[in-house]
Amino acid sequence: MNDERILIRRAGALHGEVSIPGAKNSVLKLMAATLLAEGTFTLGNVPDIVDVGIMAELLAAIGVRSERLPGGVLRMVNSGEISPVAPYELVERIRASINVLGPLLGRFGRVSLSMPGGDDFGSRPIDMHVKGLEAMGATFEMRHGVVEARADRLHGADITLEFPSVGATENIVTAAVHAKGTTVLDNAAREPEISDLCNFLVGMGAQIEGIGSSTLVVHGVEPGELRATQHQVVPDRIQAATYMAAVAVSGGEVVLRGARADHMEMLLRRFRDMGLAVTDIGTGLAVWAEGRLRSIDMATLPYPGIATDYKPLVVTMLAVADGVGIVTENLYPGRFRYVEELQRLGADIRADGHHAVVRGVPALSGAPVRAPDIRAGAALVVAGLAADGETSVAGVHHVDRGYDDLVGRLAALGADIRRVPAG
Ligand code: EPU
Repeated sequence: MNDERILIRRAGALHGEVSIPGAKNSVLKLMAATLLAEGTFTLGNVPDIVDVGIMAELLAAIGVRSERLPGGVLRMVNSGEISPVAPYELVERIRASINVLGPLLGRFGRVSLSMPGGDDFGSRPIDMHVKGLEAMGATFEMRHGVVEARADRLHGADITLEFPSVGATENIVTAAVHAKGTTVLDNAAREPEISDLCNFLVGMGAQIEGIGSSTLVVHGVEPGELRATQHQVVPDRIQAATYMAAVAVSGGEVVLRGARADHMEMLLRRFRDMGLAVTDIGTGLAVWAEGRLRSIDMATLPYPGIATDYKPLVVTMLAVADGVGIVTENLYPGRFRYVEELQRLGADIRADGHHAVVRGVPALSGAPVRAPDIRAGAALVVAGLAADGETSVAGVHHVDRGYDDLVGRLAALGADIRRVPAG
C-alpha cells in the first residue's frame, strides 16, 4: 500500500485533450476469461492501473501468465496447465477475482475460491452467481470463507436473475460457453463492459446471441473448441465521467479522446440538464462548461440507468451547483461514506440511508481528506479543483486501483495538482 497524497489547488478553467483509457471493469473480466482457452491472447487499450496487476498475479497463481507491452498492450499466455485454486491473499484484494468462477467451473469442473474482497460497500453477496450456476448443474459448498464448486459438465438452463447483477451475468455467461446445450439468461446486466466481454468470447469462438440486451442466449461449445484471440478493451466510461466532472466544476473546454456517448447516454442527458455542454465528435466527446452548474435530482440504477460508480462525482458537482439536489442510491446502501469527507471541504450534504440531499454552495474550502474507495477518491480530487486553498487527498492507493494517471492527466489539462509522499 502506498501512503502518498494528492495535493490540489483551484487553478481555474481546464483546456486541452485527454485520452480515455480502457475500462477497469471490462479488462479484469477479459483477463479472467483467458482461462477458457489455451494460447496467446493480446489485449489492447489496457489501463495502467493496480487492479490489472493484481488480476495478473491471481491468474499467474492459477496458471495464466501476463506480460505488459508498451502502448497499453497486455499479452496473456494460457499454456493449459491450470490449477483451479484462487488463493486468499490475492482474492481478498479485488472483487473481480470472483470472475474466475465461471470460466474455471465451465472449463475444468471445479474451483476453490476464497470470498472476494474489493471496495467496502457493506455486504456484497454472491447468491445470484451461485443460484445461476446451480441451475446449470454445479454444486457449492462454503467452508471457512472458501467457496468450493464442482460440476461434471455444466448443462444449459433457463435462468432469470432477480436483479441484473454485473458479476452474476458475467459468471453465468462465461460458464455457459462450455455448457452442454443452450443457456437463456433473462434480466441479464447490459453494461457496455458486459457486451465487451461477450464480444471477446465470440472472438474466441463462443456462440452468444442478444449481446447488449437483457436476454443473453448462449449455445455451449465443447471444451477445447475455444481459441485465444486479440481484443481492444472498451473505453472507461467512469474515467470519462471523472474528466467531465472536473471540467464541470472548473469550467473550460476539453476533448475526451475515445469516450463513447453511446455508453453514457443517460448520464450525458443529466449532465446537460446541469448546464454542461457535451458534443459527440465521433472520435470522442467535447465538453464545455461556463458559469455555475444547476442542481438536479438523480437516482442510480443498473445500465442503461445512471451507474452507482458515477454518483460520488455527481454529488461533488451538486455540492457546488446552484440549488438543491436529491441523490438516491439504489445499489449499495453503504455507499455514502465519502459524504463526510466532502463535508470537511465545506459541502452541505445530508445523507440518510439511500438518500443524500445536497445544497449547493458557491465554493468549497480546501482541507485534508481521505479516499474511502476508488470512485469516491476521484470525486474528492474533483472537489479539490473547486475548493479555495489546498486540498490534500490521502488513501491514494484506492484511486490507483482504477485510474490510469489521474494526476498527470488533470495536470496536462491545466489543473494545479501533484502527488507527494506521505508525511
Ligand atoms: N448482489 C447480490 N447478490 C449477488 C450479486 C450482487 O445481492 O449475487 C447485489 C450486490 O450486493 C449489490 C448489487 O447487487 O448491492 C450490485 O451488484 P453487481 O453484481 O451488479 O456488481 P458487482 O459485479 O459486484 C460491478 C462493478 C462495481 C459496480 C457494480 C454496479 C466490477 C469489478 N465491479 O460490481 O464497480 O459498482 O458492478 O455497477 O465490475 C468500481 O469499479 O469501483 C466498482 C465498485
